[in-house]
Amino acid sequence: MINRCVFYCRGAVILGNESQDSPAPNANKREQVSRKITQLVDNLPLFPTDINQLLSSAVKPAEDGTEILRLIESDPKLRSQLLALARSYFGRAEDFESIEDAVQHVGVRPFVQLIGISYAREAIQQEFAALKYLNDYVDHSEDIYIATDILGGICSLPREQRQMHALAGLVHDVGRLAIIVADNKTSSRVLGTLWERMVSVVHEEKAELGMDHCDVGARICRRWNFSPIIQEAVLRHHSPIMNGDFSFAGALIFLSHFVSASDPSGEIIASLLSSNVLSKLDLNPVDFEKARDQYESRTQK
Ligand SMILES: [Fe+2]
Ligand SMILES: [Fe+2]
Repeated sequence: MINRCVFYCRGAVILGNESQDSPAPNANKREQVSRKITQLVDNLPLFPTDINQLLSSAVKPAEDGTEILRLIESDPKLRSQLLALARSYFGRAEDFESIEDAVQHVGVRPFVQLIGISYAREAIQQEFAALKYLNDYVDHSEDIYIATDILGGICSLPREQRQMHALAGLVHDVGRLAIIVADNKTSSRVLGTLWERMVSVVHEEKAELGMDHCDVGARICRRWNFSPIIQEAVLRHHSPIMNGDFSFAGALIFLSHFVSASDPSGEIIASLLSSNVLSKLDLNPVDFEKARDQYESRTQK
């Protein structure tokens, strides 16, 4: 569980000394929240050793999947657990009869990231149980997973890459949870960012806390050994274009927020930044509308 520490205000021992050397209240708050976030991230549980081994093997460039399969096959409990996981995410029970089937269908790297993400989701449910509306975060993550998968299809990404980017959608806002808990705002209602605040929200966080939820999320993903693609998607999902540098992974997640949003007035597509991101992804407004139609039909209850 989260280690809820009490931070003592050093200012208490210098009462009466309200000189200009005293830090401003905002600076104090910023420092406290920043320390709490760091502590919270450092205290997040690590995954079991065998899962960490899988994640480490998956990021090795030369890994062709043989070692990963060997690790899974050597542990019957892990094997059946992972098969059930793959079935629930990627297909009906009859689609995968063995781990090889699942790996062949999903791709070895996304398969391993999915394993990590399933552990991360358990850890998130436990560690951030204090959040009143944690389910909002889960729902938003699922929405972005679906929208990113659709955009990946429209961008004609190869299967493995498409899966990897979509999986990033499932953890893209994890840093938000840490900030909300550290900032004692556990009753906050809206955890997903409305499309029109996709740019401003990180500026506000930076101004108030000196960091934003993308930085914090990327730190969490590093701690959990997620792939570089997922780390980058999390870090850049609000700033896909930064100082002339374009992040494809960040752009897909960014644009997914627009795909999954309701836009009766057509303002989304008129937004300057989303148009820039669209063209950087080599997509046009017709592609965007296609993505929105596909999203609607996939999410219709
Ligand atoms: Fe976000
Ligand atoms: Fe989000």
